[in-house]
Amino acid sequence: MSLLKWVDFPHIGDARGSLVILEGSKTIPFEMKRAYYIFGTQESVARGFHAHRQLQQVAVCVSGRCRMILDDGKQRIDEWLDSPTKGLIIDAMVWHEMHDFSPDCVLLVFASEHYDEGDYIRDYEDFTAHIK
Ligand code: TYD
Repeated sequence: MSLLKWVDFPHIGDARGSLVILEGSKTIPFEMKRAYYIFGTQESVARGFHAHRQLQQVAVCVSGRCRMILDDGKQRIDEWLDSPTKGLIIDAMVWHEMHDFSPDCVLLVFASEHYDEGDYIRDYEDFTAHIK
């Protein structure tokens, strides 16, 4: 299965600007239970550095940009998130890191489950051991 999976969000544009529509189990390929967003990230800060055992997520930069690294233990990809109409799917058991946040970056994430620290794998060696 491909590691790089984008979702194109339906949007309506007119002379006033743009409106993006996101619906659970439709545009977002799961029923959303949680959303969170990251903003005001300081220069040279990187975040993430974990994988989730079960959680599915979709990440979108609604403003600005950041660079996302996805790693499934077989391949590692590096992609800019810089469009408010394109979401990147972060599947379960995918190590992810976010780098190079622009000062205006607002990274919005939709998640399939409520917050559960027990679902995190925060050590890369632990992650590769789980993949095997
Ligand atoms: P974390 O997921 O570790 O983010 P990052 O890897 O980008 O630093 O979350 C940072 C902190 O916020 C951590 O203490 C857990 C807490 N947190 C919640 O309490 N609920 C949430 O939904 C999320 C995403 C994080």
